[in-house]
Amino acid sequence: MADLQWWETAVIYQIYPRSYQDSNSDGIGDLPGITSRLDYIAGLGVDAIWISPFFKSPQKDFGYDVSDYCDIHDEYGTLEDFDDLIARAHELGLRLMIDIVPAHCSDQHIWFQESRQSRDNPKADWFHWVDPMPDGSAPTNWLSFFGGRAWTWEPLRQQYYLHNFLASQPNLNHANPDVRAALTDVARFWFDRGVDGFRLDAVHTINGDVAPYQDNLANPKFEPGPLPQQQQPFFRQLHDSAQLNQPAIQKFSEAFRGVADEYGDKFLMGELHGDDPVLASQTFTAPGRLHATYNFNLLAWAGLTVDELKNAISDAVAAFNGTGRLTFAFSNHDVPRSGTRQLAPLGLGQEHQEALQLLLLKLETCLIGSTCVYQGEELAFEDVQDIPVDQMQDPWGIEFAPAFLGRDTCRTPMVWKATAPNGGFSSANTTWLPIAKGHLKRAALDEAARPASVYTAFSEFLKWRKTQPALMQANQMSDLSGTAKQIVFDRISEQQTLRCCFDFETLTASFEEV
Ligand code: BGC
Repeated sequence: MADLQWWETAVIYQIYPRSYQDSNSDGIGDLPGITSRLDYIAGLGVDAIWISPFFKSPQKDFGYDVSDYCDIHDEYGTLEDFDDLIARAHELGLRLMIDIVPAHCSDQHIWFQESRQSRDNPKADWFHWVDPMPDGSAPTNWLSFFGGRAWTWEPLRQQYYLHNFLASQPNLNHANPDVRAALTDVARFWFDRGVDGFRLDAVHTINGDVAPYQDNLANPKFEPGPLPQQQQPFFRQLHDSAQLNQPAIQKFSEAFRGVADEYGDKFLMGELHGDDPVLASQTFTAPGRLHATYNFNLLAWAGLTVDELKNAISDAVAAFNGTGRLTFAFSNHDVPRSGTRQLAPLGLGQEHQEALQLLLLKLETCLIGSTCVYQGEELAFEDVQDIPVDQMQDPWGIEFAPAFLGRDTCRTPMVWKATAPNGGFSSANTTWLPIAKGHLKRAALDEAARPASVYTAFSEFLKWRKTQPALMQANQMSDLSGTAKQIVFDRISEQQTLRCCFDFETLTASFEEV
């Protein structure tokens, strides 16, 4: 059997740079801070890191609003700091993925600054500019994911522009080949600096040939269920082929893949959603497009019962079994932390948080494809639910607070030493988000030195994982079985069939060759 590519089995550690390690005492994490913690990450035994955006940005959406794709945001350091980071990561055997935001940029980007001036400047057609309806209203009923309309009025042009997120995140017009070329230049810039792959942000929200702009239909299946649906009229609409997931997006994924292939062993992992997520993922990973998509099935905001976990896994695996074209994750910078979120649906109390977190880590790293582990999962950090409203930072949370706490709950700074000021994250008087007191009992360096910690157990597990042909040499698994409290499946390679059992009663994982 041909060897798998590195990314087909990779365990990828996600770093939220603002919250990882501050090296210059401004209360904000930065690139030199990350470099200083790479030994800790390598010690865990992961294969790669993915760093959320650190490019120049007014930070309205904390880096997902880029004002220069080829330079570093001042608070995070310099290009030289980036070069040091990647050199050290590679020395330690860690691949490095960065987070490119192709669908939109910041309204402070020079491209938008120019485009908004008039209807006939050289960048006039780089964004989606549309005349008002005869009654002055916006061209369609499209809503922004972060609340309110997806259209904002620009007096200079007497037109609306499109934004699927904040009004300060205008959507690029990918129907314009110059826009695609500018973004593939960005890809080349970072590949030339040595990055091993990209996490591509919100690729389903790339807008291409959308004119004539059509209204979204109402979503007949909408139920005001768990958060964040309760807060967002956005979910009351169907989006595919009107606002989102237009076929023209694939011109983008093909162009990016072309560039990645020029550089060889690179990985393109697309974050995407859809009215039919499986179909969207298959479309995006068809030959010549992205290598894999980031699967949302395990990221459910309110957590999942064992039955729901089984369905979530089966549903994704059914579409991709035998391939490495998907990435699973239980946590990231956009959802409440899994160790806390999963307790209630599994009927567990807080005293089980560590055992549950370890079990979830083992489960996700035994599934087919790659896995993303979010900073702090290896420490069983709880979600931070007590951030005072006046200290909230996430624009989405601020829009809907206090009913909805947004994403600050999973973005508080890492803590490294229980006894150090600010848990060792920063020597500043205040940090950009408060330090979670509850995290101090499991500070990272303390846990890395403690034999009975989740960090230690997970790192031992990852070492063992590498020795199992069924987990490393093929991406094949059986259907799921097990009692109402278990998830059982076989991982199958030519050399080995490994039965993997995850028991949510005893909170243990067991493995047996069959
Ligand atoms: C990122 C979010 C971001 C949004 C807009 C995503 O899905 O993960 O953090 O706010 O895209 O760029």
